[in-house]
Amino acid sequence: MGYQVKKARRATLLIRNAGQLLTLRDEKQIGPRTGENLSNLGIIENGAVASLGASILAVGTLEEIERSAIIDKTTRIIDAQGKVVTPGFVDPHTHPVFAATREEEFELRVKGASYQEIAASGGGIRNSVRRFRKTSNDQLMRNARRVLDRMLCYGTTTIEAKSGYGLSPEDEVRSLQIIKDLNENHPIDLVPTFLGAHEVPDEYRDNRQEYIRILTEEMIPRVAEGDLAEFCDVFCEEGVFNIEESRRILSTAKAYGLKLKLHADELSPFGGAELAAELGATSADHLVAISETGIDKMKAAGVIAVLLPGTTFSLGYDKYAPARRMIKAGLPIALATDCNPGSSMTENMQMILSLASTQMRMTAAEGFCAATINSAYATDRGEEVGSLEPNKLADLVIWDTENYKEIPYHYGVNLVKTVIKRGRVVYG
Ligand code: NIG
Ligand code: FE
Repeated sequence: MGYQVKKARRATLLIRNAGQLLTLRDEKQIGPRTGENLSNLGIIENGAVASLGASILAVGTLEEIERSAIIDKTTRIIDAQGKVVTPGFVDPHTHPVFAATREEEFELRVKGASYQEIAASGGGIRNSVRRFRKTSNDQLMRNARRVLDRMLCYGTTTIEAKSGYGLSPEDEVRSLQIIKDLNENHPIDLVPTFLGAHEVPDEYRDNRQEYIRILTEEMIPRVAEGDLAEFCDVFCEEGVFNIEESRRILSTAKAYGLKLKLHADELSPFGGAELAAELGATSADHLVAISETGIDKMKAAGVIAVLLPGTTFSLGYDKYAPARRMIKAGLPIALATDCNPGSSMTENMQMILSLASTQMRMTAAEGFCAATINSAYATDRGEEVGSLEPNKLADLVIWDTENYKEIPYHYGVNLVKTVIKRGRVVYG
């Protein structure tokens, strides 16, 4: 009988001495984690990770690693000194390409105005659109780069990135082009989403049907044919795009081969979750006001719920998405920043874990699952990132703590020590 010797490969990087190595690997559940499995972190005590170039070669104890990878003097060795090591965060809902922040609107809300009142009087998204159109590509790129640099040093290594502040064929393409350039030139990987249906721009306020025609007949075909986005999203909410309009826009996008996402049921139980299920969306996001039927239908259709507690927090509201009810129902949930200048100006996923714990009663383990492996699936990157396993990308964070439970608990500070993206140290 013949035998095969599996040739061990030489590691370019070894991280050793991780007091808690959160692999997020779970043999019991492939795909997004649900229910009790949302707490399975696949922790290896005193663990190590070896990588070759951009990819992980081996994960385990040092002895296990040495059986499957060659560690020699060419290998860069990082001693984690007993600290926590995790996959990089995947932030599955962000709006990083904008012209200016909107702190003046934040202050209006502090003084009592609501998000909808500000939007109805011409502020909100339309305020950002007016400024976007007057801003050069170079300036937009500098702004977005600043956002991404911050995300990286807070431990995020992959994001979903939406257009949606251009709202004309040229300006939306400009936004998606910036996302594409950043994906090629910034360490963070970006998954592009077309959000031309973020709002009806000023010039079509009296003729929204014409804007929807432009979306479906001009913008979506152009985005799909130019391979400028992987997902299409719609702000499906009272006063923005209704269910019928959202269905029309998203069905068109689907016919053009785009995967789907929805801003759904943020302010009222509007039927966005049900629509996400009907259309087979990858995720429905926000869901603060989701109905019980919405939860059931999303679960049956395999739609991931992306929860954005930073938005509720920054808008100064007190009603958060019903995470516990969703977990109990077996719905897969993910967490994101919703980083945007209007309703959630943060790049920091650690803060999102803190809010998930205090406001939605999610444990640190559930938060980590939701912000890594499940958010990877929410961006259709579940086979590439979100857990530490051979052949996935070597995207890791070394933390300045010995217990992962400190991360949501010790809030408002940055506990990241080192960030590794595709096998290279990019921060710390
Ligand atoms: O996710 N909801 C729509 N989009 C953002 C808000 C964008 C803005 O106000 O600029 C959100 O909350
Ligand atoms: Fe959003």
